[in-house]
Amino acid sequence: MNAHSEQLFHEAVEVLRANDLGTMTSAAPNLYPHMWSWDAAFVAIGLARVNVPRAIQELETLLEAQWTTGMIPHIVFSDNDTGYFPGYDRWNTSGASAKPDRVRSSGICQPPVHAIALRHILDRGRENGGADLRAAEMFIEQTFDSWLAWHRWLATVRDPEETGLIEIHHGWESGCDNSPRWDSPYNRVKPGMVPAFVRRDTSHVRDTSERPDDGEYRKYLWLVQQMASVGYDDKKVMQTVDFRVRDVFFSAILAAASDVLADLGLEIGRDESAEELRKIAAHFRSGVLSTIDPVTGLARDFDVLAEEWIATETIAAFAPLISGGDVEVLNRQRAIIQGPRWMGHPALRFALPPSTSPLSPEFRTRTYWRGPIWPFLNLLFGWASARDGQQELYSILRTLSLEQLGDLTFAEYYEPFTGEPLGSFAQAWTAAAALEWLGGRDAS
Ligand code: SER
Repeated sequence: MNAHSEQLFHEAVEVLRANDLGTMTSAAPNLYPHMWSWDAAFVAIGLARVNVPRAIQELETLLEAQWTTGMIPHIVFSDNDTGYFPGYDRWNTSGASAKPDRVRSSGICQPPVHAIALRHILDRGRENGGADLRAAEMFIEQTFDSWLAWHRWLATVRDPEETGLIEIHHGWESGCDNSPRWDSPYNRVKPGMVPAFVRRDTSHVRDTSERPDDGEYRKYLWLVQQMASVGYDDKKVMQTVDFRVRDVFFSAILAAASDVLADLGLEIGRDESAEELRKIAAHFRSGVLSTIDPVTGLARDFDVLAEEWIATETIAAFAPLISGGDVEVLNRQRAIIQGPRWMGHPALRFALPPSTSPLSPEFRTRTYWRGPIWPFLNLLFGWASARDGQQELYSILRTLSLEQLGDLTFAEYYEPFTGEPLGSFAQAWTAAAALEWLGGRDAS
């Protein structure tokens, strides 16, 4: 490692240490003082580079919050209720029969990247050997059924019509909260009575345009109220909620992660479960491919209530690069993502994929999921590139990500043209991404 890499490594470790609340890592010090489900998986990937038992503990804490249905909630609340809205009380999950009593969580979920983190933990355990290897193997054996239940719940309850696409009930479930993907379904959400609220997020950013606006938040809260009104019962939520979309990116992650979990299952002698997971992977992989617009080559979401495709130029359009499969489709997608509407746009500070194409009318340079570059996503695309033998794309993503992260702010997201760090600084999964890239295959 050269001096820059060493500094990046030490500062990234320090961010994870500073966000460590004991048995969970807060997603960010002020803006997100709790555990988020998919953040936790990326955090575990980073932690595994420095401390395998602590990485295991992160996923253990998350699993402790699993609902009896198999759902893993998107927020596990820490005891710090001061800095974040909506907090545990506003979620009103205490009446949800599937939520274990002792658990303080939200009532919705996030993309299932966790099996990918498990794989990283086992790989690091194998590299280190000894106690790390034993701990990693034991963790996978002991928790395999819980992860399987999570994948099963998604594949059945969230895809009742067996479309090969996961239905979500809140933009927060996608993780891409205010992406242009959700503009049309949110335009049709007409919130009823929402009790007064005071947001906290806007006080943790320098410029409020980096966050969704109050009108959007009113809708976010309305959907939460709708789900709470039926006790977060899976069937009743589907009959009640005003936001029902099939999320292509979520579905792609389920496909990819199911293959990974199947591999892990085989390694611990769970052949039948591995076969079941392979079927889930294949089903959702073809679901993702079925969404592709033949003209643009981009994957689309589907609005269940409006019965229409949602075609936007966002990063989710590259879901097939995550789920893998059809070589021709993937080659076309790789050409598009490296072309002038994306990584090849000449004005980019770092030639990394923005969350929305700079040439899309919905593009906004500073606003959350409407344009900025998200480092953890680049790591995910890098992982999928390596899996598919695309070493060149992997190396491009790695080299540029390390340059971008060299500013040492570990920002949540970055302004694509200036490289300005935005959102929360000292974001845990950004630090984790830095650690994983530093340990990556073409490390210097
Ligand atoms: N991402 C959401 C927020 O900004 C929560 O999931 O609070």
